[in-house]
Amino acid sequence: MKIGLLGFGTVGEGVYELTKQQENMTVARVLCRKDRSLPDAAVTHDFADILQDETIDTVVEVIGGLHPAYEYVTDAIRAGKNIVTANKALMAVYYDELLALAAQHGVSIRCTAAVGGGIGWLSALERARRVDTLREIHGIMNGTCNYILDSMTRLGLDYAEALRRAQELGYAEAEPSTDVDGIDTWHKLILSANIAFGVSLEKADVPVAGIRNITYDDIGWFNRHGYVCKLVGTARRDGEAHVQPTLYALSELEGNIPANFNLISLDGEVAGRQSFYGQGAGRYPTALNVVQDCADLLEGKGFYCPCGGKTAVPNRSRMVWYVRAPRGPLPEGPVSEQWGEGKILEASVAEMHRWLKDHPDAFIAAIPDRVK
Ligand code: HSE
Repeated sequence: MKIGLLGFGTVGEGVYELTKQQENMTVARVLCRKDRSLPDAAVTHDFADILQDETIDTVVEVIGGLHPAYEYVTDAIRAGKNIVTANKALMAVYYDELLALAAQHGVSIRCTAAVGGGIGWLSALERARRVDTLREIHGIMNGTCNYILDSMTRLGLDYAEALRRAQELGYAEAEPSTDVDGIDTWHKLILSANIAFGVSLEKADVPVAGIRNITYDDIGWFNRHGYVCKLVGTARRDGEAHVQPTLYALSELEGNIPANFNLISLDGEVAGRQSFYGQGAGRYPTALNVVQDCADLLEGKGFYCPCGGKTAVPNRSRMVWYVRAPRGPLPEGPVSEQWGEGKILEASVAEMHRWLKDHPDAFIAAIPDRVK
């Protein structure tokens, strides 16, 4: 396998190093913005050098973001090159288009490192769905949010200080909205659900609530009632799909996930619950699964599942919620308790997210174990 590597940041360097240990993979050219020289690969600033190199059969994209990754990947597919990418936004947003284009040009795409970094979650899903019927997937898919929430819970930090530490450690960006507003989890959930259920979720039908407005006092009230808060993406075969802060008891696995780790679970009709835990980001965990995908391509494995049709996402199920709104009336529904400035009430997922859109300074968290 001759690889054209797009991007030589944290993950790209990891991929370059790990492929050196593989007999049947060579990184032939690297697209890199900086001037640098590598002992075993030609470095270029011009993507055309990779596109036009007919000896390169596989393009590994680890630039991230939608553009120019989309243009590079689609051009590479049209040039007959297989794709390995760690880019969850690209795969979630252009899912149908990329799969159709790859099929049309007879090439393969794999993207295991896009969800759960080092865990190998998508390839575990691929095996699970092959024999079993999956009912649900859910999980903590964003290490930055888990680090912030865990630091607030265990170290008693307020949100601003926990975010500052996440930024200092390189987990959160200077502009952290993709992580803290749940967008990263949303991409990972949509991609995982598409593969788990063989569908193509309509992105506008998957509501997302993040953790930006959580306070020290919210965490204190959760603690008093025996809960910890996690940002969780959930999707079900019946069409339900959402990303939202969720409260777990300490007796549950999710309640015990420390620092920047991920925990992603599937529920199969035969397998029951299986959970996958590990580092969801970082140079070597992520690069490892990029190289695993290259090895899978060499073994003839293409995409994880056939591309499915759309599904409606009604999100009609009723849940119990913690809701704190500095202003305005609460969503309709019976209120059962008051936790400080927050109220515990019942509402459907769709109603709650509709209400949240008009209340951007509110904080909500689902409490699944209170649903009767
Ligand atoms: N920002 C992501 C996270 C990186 O914190 O999990 C890995 O996708």
